[in-house]
Amino acid sequence: MIVPTKSWQADTVAHHYDELDLFYRELWGEHLHHGLWHAGAETVTEATLRLLNVVAAHARLRPGQTVYDAGSGYGATARWLATHHSANVTALTLSPVQYRYAQTVPALPSAPKPRYLLEDWLSNTLPDRSADVVVAIESTEHMVDLAGCFAQIRRVLRPGGRFVVCAWLACEAPKAWEVRLLLEPICREGRLAGLGSLSEYQAGLQGAGLVVEGSDDVSRQVRRTWDLVLYRLIAKLATDRRYRRYLLDARQRERLFVWSTLRLALAYRTGSLRYGILSGYREA
Ligand SMILES: C[S@@+](CC[C@H](N)C(=O)[O-])C[C@H]1O[C@@H](n2cnc3c(N)ncnc32)[C@H](O)[C@@H]1O
Repeated sequence: MIVPTKSWQADTVAHHYDELDLFYRELWGEHLHHGLWHAGAETVTEATLRLLNVVAAHARLRPGQTVYDAGSGYGATARWLATHHSANVTALTLSPVQYRYAQTVPALPSAPKPRYLLEDWLSNTLPDRSADVVVAIESTEHMVDLAGCFAQIRRVLRPGGRFVVCAWLACEAPKAWEVRLLLEPICREGRLAGLGSLSEYQAGLQGAGLVVEGSDDVSRQVRRTWDLVLYRLIAKLATDRRYRRYLLDARQRERLFVWSTLRLALAYRTGSLRYGILSGYREA
């Protein structure tokens, strides 16, 4: 597990998303996760929705099922699962800005209305054995207690209930330079509590008493995400004074994340950073 040289608590993660709210939404959109490119010519919207289609397939969702979204961003996954799978979704985020945004987006009249909670997944108050499915898309990396996160997934799932975890990962056995120049700074600048490897995630989920059925490394299909973010960021810096002003303002605690866009694009090219989709279920 790669960990940052400086550690923090949930309030720092919340602040990261609050401060960068505008930039994240302008540069990528309300789906705050990687896209999945198969052909290479898909639009960002097509690629981000493809990732959700894969998540839903792993979850084997049926209409009317109860889904918990652990680390839900702007609630876009919750609304998509409600609209396309008639799922009853409860979506948890740490960020007050994301929580308020989610509440302002109208649900489709024909779809179940998602429930949004401003709550830490690690201490969530959802009842035991109450979910058919738990999804965690690019949130587990932020959680200071990964074992605790997986234990919560098991606790809230009914026996037979399924989980899907999409996670930024470190390669197995990274070299010292990969850690120093890429992986550790990515953790620190992105307020990640750690970057586990695929085998560490598998072991962690199994250790929590979950059965892991699928663990796919889809790094090559998602890596275009950060090339595009970097390209869009450079264009914004050249044309939009707000971006330059933000970067030059020393009071802005999250501005170092700009460097991470470059590191992320590079780290996918070197194979140091990986992306995994892990899925499975809770036995009795
Ligand atoms: C990269 S965003 C992904 C958002 C969303 N899953 C999506 O795909 O659009 C990470 C999200 O994880 C949330 N998060 C991180 N740690 C969390 C925790 N302990 N409890 C609840 N949410 C958490 C953040 O608030 C943020 O919304």
